[in-house]
Formats: sequence, C-alpha cells, structure tokens
Amino acid sequence: MPRFAHITGWGIAVPEKVLTNNDLAQMVETSDEWIRTRTGIRERHIADEEEYPSTLGARAARDALRMAGLSPRDVEMIIVATSSPDYPFFPATACLVQDMLGAKRAGAFDVMAACTGFIYALSVATALIRTGTVNNALVIGTENLSRIVDWQDRNTCVLFGDAAGAFVLQAAEEPGGVLASALHCDGSAADLLLLPAGGSRQPASEETVRKRMHYIQMNGRAVFRFATRAMAHAVQEVLEKAGLTTEDVTLIIPHQANRRIIEAAAKQLRMPMERFVLNMDRYGNTSTASIPLAAYEAAQQRRLRPGDLVVLVGFGAGMTSGAVLVRWTGPLPRRPRPRREPGLGQRLRSRWQALRQRFQGKQEEKPPAPQTERPSTPEAEGSGQG
Ligand code: UT7
Repeated sequence: MPRFAHITGWGIAVPEKVLTNNDLAQMVETSDEWIRTRTGIRERHIADEEEYPSTLGARAARDALRMAGLSPRDVEMIIVATSSPDYPFFPATACLVQDMLGAKRAGAFDVMAACTGFIYALSVATALIRTGTVNNALVIGTENLSRIVDWQDRNTCVLFGDAAGAFVLQAAEEPGGVLASALHCDGSAADLLLLPAGGSRQPASEETVRKRMHYIQMNGRAVFRFATRAMAHAVQEVLEKAGLTTEDVTLIIPHQANRRIIEAAAKQLRMPMERFVLNMDRYGNTSTASIPLAAYEAAQQRRLRPGDLVVLVGFGAGMTSGAVLVRWTGPLPRRPRPRREPGLGQRLRSRWQALRQRFQGKQEEKPPAPQTERPSTPEAEGSGQG
C-alpha cells in the first residue's frame, strides 16, 4: 500500500518583543519609508535573552502536536531546519528540542540549507514516512537571527527577525499531504550570503571578532536576482512533476524575504499577488521559520483549507532553492490510542483475575459438589470469592 505524508498539525512561537522600522532608524542610517518600500517589512520580533532556537522550536512543536492530537512520546523523528542553531557545530538543535519535549522515542537531527531549510526538511521527513522508516515526524524551522545580524550594518539588520514554526507529518494511506518536491543548489554562488567566521575554515579569533566576521554578510542585489529566478523555477518544476499548472493551485506560500522578490516571481509565473501569502510586514525575514509561519497564518485565517493544493517555495544561502507541492490536510480522524504499559495496580488486578479464573476452572473440573454445600451466588462470584 502506498503511504502518504500528511501535514496534520501546525504551530508557531513568536517572541514578544517588537522592533519597528522607526526603532531601527534610531540605530542605523535608515528610515521606515526606505525599509517599507524596498522590502515590505514594517516590524520584526526579537527574542529575549533566555529564548533560543531550541526553546522557540519546542514551543512551536508543542502547539503543532496538540493540533495533531499526538503526545511528544508518539514522535518518531524530529528534524530542525535552522540558520542560527543554538550551537555552531553540535549538538544539533533538534536534540535539544527532543529533550525539551520529552520525545523519548524520537530520532533527531538538523538540516542546514539556510532559508530553504524548511522545504528540504519537509522533503526528507516525507521520504522517511513514505518509505515506512517512521510513521510521523516533527519538522521545525526556528531562528534567533537577531544574534547573528550585524546591528551596525543597515544592508542586513533591517531585514531579519526571530520566530519558529512547526509541522507535524503523519503517515496515512489516503492520498494527500506532501505530493512532490523540487530541491536545487548553486554552490558556485555560496559567497553571496554567508557568515564567514566561526567555522573550521576561519575559527573564531580576536581578528575575526574585530572584523565583525561572525555576522551575516550579503550581496543583496545579487541575492535578489537569484531569488526571483529560483522561486519561479522551483514552483514550475514541482507543478510539472505532478502534472499540474499554476491554475490548479489555491495558494503559494513563499519564503518571506522581500515583497518585491515575491512580486517579481508572481509576474514570472503570471499569477496574481492575491494567491501569494505575505506576512513579512509583521515578522521580517525569519529564514527557516518564515514558510511555516506564513502557512500557519493562512490556515488560521482559513485562506488555506483542507483539500487545497498549495506550493511552499523558498530560496536561501548556498545558494539553495526548492518547492514542495502539498494537498493540505489538517488533523487526521482520531484513532484509538494504543494502550499504555499497565501500572502496578492494574498488574496486580490482572494477576488476581488470572488466579481466580484458574481457581474457578479447577472448581468446574471437580465432580459436582455434595448436596449439603451452599450454592455460590453471583454476588460472591463477582467479588472474587467464588
Ligand atoms: O533569505 C534570503 C536573505 N536575503 C534576501 O532575501 C535579500 C535579497 N535582497 C534584497 O531584498 C534587496 O537587495 C535589499 C532589500 C537587501 C536591498 O534593496 P535594493 O533595492 O537591492 O537596494 P540596494 O542594495 O541596491 O541599495 C540601494 C541603496 C544603496 O545606496 P546607494 O549606493 O544607491 O547610495 C544602499 O546603500 O540603498 C542603500 N541602502 C539603504 N538605505 C537606507 C541599503 N540599505 C539601506 C537601508 N536604509 N537599510
């Protein structure tokens, strides 16, 4: 029987603190007008000191699990996509999330494909489900980009924000869920968007810190050009794989980097902007979290309903790009939950019942009792005294 990977729960976590364009204008030479007209961003959320990608990711995951009707103990795989992991190399942020959730049975690993990470992670989770390796997976995109942004660089600091989004994927035989994916990379353009130091190529040193090499560096114009081409191409490719056209799709949920990039992609695809979900005005670019965050809002607003065909599409450092085609599902009908391990009380009761049944059996095997013995009563039998 073919298996499908349905999206059965979704959740988000957004830090409380809001940083507006006017706030930024107090920090670097910029203006609300420039940021709004060049990017579509009005404000973004910034994590407080005790929030990390892992804590935000775990919050979003709990939300998504509640909707799917699963407990953390049911989860078999956790995949975290992040561009700003809690630790630079290891452990994976997914392992920290696994512990925070108490997802004792789950495997956990990170996917690093920058802002396309959520699309890559969804594709990997889908493959694991479709091949029968796992029955469900949590896919999380989570970021604290505010910690890796250079707050003195107006070219980048106005763009990014912090947030997390999570999907629960579950196996089912009914067709639907993630139907196709298209994943790409052009590593020859890797230098367009990178965080140069702190890796094994340029380990942290006084010099790398002094040169501000632990912050995001970007060639904005070149990334912009790459993005418009890559997004339109990925949407077309994933639809072709499924034998569909843009006409068949209810919504496109793109990575929320810049409103003008999405407008350019819409033009190339000859699709009206009304069919694109936009929310970068309130969150900025939240990298791997931006697609699940936009999907969450579309679903909450009922722009996205069960049965709808939707394309999720992204691009990012690498330069990576990709899209997935999804038949949106929502929570599956609840199945009876598997019985949990019996506790001590229940074990003692079962043992007592077994002993009683054996005793009763022996009684039945015995020759009929002599007429003088008192007949047993149903009450006596019911109380285990028979
Ligand atoms: O997830 C992927 C991450 N990255 C992206 O998606 C970024 C893609 N690129 C972009 O979104 C756009 O290229 C930006 C929003 C980054 C920049 O917009 P642009 O229209 O490409 O501007 P530009 O880089 O061509 O700069 C135009 C001018 C420059 O001044 P000069 O050289 O013309 O005098 C910049 O110095 O705007 C200046 N500028 C700013 N001015 C006010 C750049 N940043 C700012 C700013 N405020 N924050």
